[in-house]
Amino acid sequence: MAVLLDGKVLSEKRMEELKARVDTLRARGKTVGLAVILVGENPASQVYVRNKGKACEGLGIRGDTILLPEQTSQEELEALIEKLNQDECVDGILVQLPLPKHLDEAKALALISPDKDVDGFHVENAGRLFTGQPGVTACTPKGILAMLKAWNVPLAGKEAVVIGRSNIVGKPVAMLLLNENCTVTICHSRTADLAAHTRRADILVAAVGKPRFITAGMVKPGAAVVDVGINRVDGKVVGDVDFESVEKVAGYISPVPGGVGKMTICMLMENVIEAAERKAN
Ligand code: GUN
Repeated sequence: MAVLLDGKVLSEKRMEELKARVDTLRARGKTVGLAVILVGENPASQVYVRNKGKACEGLGIRGDTILLPEQTSQEELEALIEKLNQDECVDGILVQLPLPKHLDEAKALALISPDKDVDGFHVENAGRLFTGQPGVTACTPKGILAMLKAWNVPLAGKEAVVIGRSNIVGKPVAMLLLNENCTVTICHSRTADLAAHTRRADILVAAVGKPRFITAGMVKPGAAVVDVGINRVDGKVVGDVDFESVEKVAGYISPVPGGVGKMTICMLMENVIEAAERKAN
């Protein structure tokens, strides 16, 4: 049976440490603020945004959620981002993705001040990760690494296979694993013989978006399997990994819910606090 990469337990511990950092800032007269922008009514995004707000509340961070209607124009969105860039009370700005189709995501993200880019999606921060310079790292990839390290999963010299090539998860997590001296393969929808790749993986990161897609036969015995999927099936949230079969083969496995998702929020809070600390110092 695999060791559980329990994101709930780890994030609760980390959140306590983060709360102490918020308290330290407050004792110095500094408050911490996050502005979250949600355009439209994507139900999954509404849940994520609500959870981010709750996390802020728990830490004593000011969390402003700005809900904009579906038909918001590019100019209106950009004007809001520029206003938040100037706002002294705002340490972090997060534009919840995906945006409605008529909006230019890359252009909006490029407008966020890199210092306030707590998602690490600005090209400056993405480029910093790519070139090994300090910067803000995307929350889900950072959370995945935090989990692997917390459970002392060996990384250097190991085969890491990432399924998914998004800017949010696949590409940055591959870069983080590379920085840890893994030998990294990025697989995607056009990969030929996916299972041949996954079966070689000592570390397998599944960000596919297909419920229970990774089955036991695709996993190397003893591998660390990290499930990034959040899929709704018959009203239940399930990951990209068929937990029941894979936990019998894997050495480590992260559950859904209670795995990566919890760590993502925790790392977002850390990025916001780090932004506030940079400003204060
Ligand atoms: N949509 C899915 N994941 C994320 C995330 O980490 N940040 C933002 N802004 N949008 C997302």
